[in-house]
Amino acid sequence: MTVTSRTQVGIVGAGPAGLLLSHLLALRGIDSIVVENRSRAYCEARQRAGLLEAGTVELLRTVGLGERMDAEGLEHGGIYLQFQGERHHLDFRDLTGGRWVTIYAQTEIVKDLIQARLAAGATIEFEVSDTEVGELDTERPVLRFTDARGTRHEVTCDAIAGCDGFHGICRDSMPPGLVQVAEREYPYSWLGILASVPPSTDELIYCRHEDGFALHTMRTPQVSRLYLQVPADEVIDHWSDDRIWAELKHRLEVPGWELKDGHISEKAISPMRSFVASPMRYRRLFLAGDAAHIVPPTGAKGLNLALADVTVLAKALTSLLKDGQAGPADAYSDTSLSRVWRATHFSWWMTSMLHVDPQSDRFGAELQLSQLRYVISSRAAATTLAENYTGYFPLTWKA
Ligand code: FAD
Ligand code: DHB
Repeated sequence: MTVTSRTQVGIVGAGPAGLLLSHLLALRGIDSIVVENRSRAYCEARQRAGLLEAGTVELLRTVGLGERMDAEGLEHGGIYLQFQGERHHLDFRDLTGGRWVTIYAQTEIVKDLIQARLAAGATIEFEVSDTEVGELDTERPVLRFTDARGTRHEVTCDAIAGCDGFHGICRDSMPPGLVQVAEREYPYSWLGILASVPPSTDELIYCRHEDGFALHTMRTPQVSRLYLQVPADEVIDHWSDDRIWAELKHRLEVPGWELKDGHISEKAISPMRSFVASPMRYRRLFLAGDAAHIVPPTGAKGLNLALADVTVLAKALTSLLKDGQAGPADAYSDTSLSRVWRATHFSWWMTSMLHVDPQSDRFGAELQLSQLRYVISSRAAATTLAENYTGYFPLTWKA
């Protein structure tokens, strides 16, 4: 038996994009359902991003999601860039007229969002299977799924948001031939660890070492997060905890500064890719976040882009569904893609400048070092990095 129902917006995916969209729509009086194929516990524990642009922080505050972030988030006014054994500081506040970033883990944003949605009585169906979107060439697209108890559902919607990440089903449900893809794969991956040890640094350290990139970031005053460049086809079993700490120390330590080590609670290897699908919309199916685009993690744009997409989308859907105005929905893809391409360029640039490319030669390495010296010596170049890192396009939301 199939249970039929009706809502205004069907949202596929309870990642940061889908959950924030549901929250923003509710603030405008629009009903939605969120369907997610993983469990709540899995979504809340999945280790990923940790760094929020100033505009993302301001948005979360404006929409009532700032309380725990303001209490527990760590505000940073700059970063360190390290190369050729020397560490240099970039002061974002000075370079950008006061802008900053905040360390607050994606796991915590997802927890805050799930709690806020459930407290408001919203429907989030976890552990669904066989999600499908259909009737996409009509004004009443349909979301189908099987719930955790095995009941099949068919929800008629006014619009569907594909917030189902890179491996989701919505992008591939668009008509064949519509979506164009632009992409790059990088010849290296990141090995990321979470460690129970206070950070050894006050601000993030991005390090280009001749044996590969390393990044020292953090989650809380007690928990460090660190990343190492490893070969693209590397397997985690080759990296004992001792080997990871030895390599991190080798790449990150400078005279007079030591990296503290501690218990590693998680380790994983992630591939690096840039991927942009366009358009991000077919009629009343809209893609947002990783469902439409992926950036390599260097520069921390993925989560920020996902949250920015749904802010634009929530406004567009409000105009469409409450005021009958199609203009913002028609502009959604182009509006989002201009932000996406800026972040795609910035992430590619940071990645290319800081990693050792196994296919490159002395010429490539000298260009990287020249670019790094330029960034730390020219105010114009440093400002370019700082304004992109802290968020170039303003995000707006009227309370
Ligand atoms: P997701 O978080 O992928 O959520 C999609 C959801 O859809 C998932 O819960 C998935 O289970 C669900 N789903 C998929 N298919 C289906 C289906 N068929 N039916 C129902 N549900 C489905 N970004 C930053 O901004 N800053 C950082 O510091 C940063 N660091 C990163 C570090 C690492 C190691 C990685 C891997 C990523 C990092 N990112 C960072 C990127 C960031 O985590 C992602 O861009 C972000 O998760 C995108 O959110 P999303 O909601 O679009 O997609
Ligand atoms: C983090 C990840 C990044 O890719 C980055 O550039 C900065 C911070 C993080 O996980 O905290």
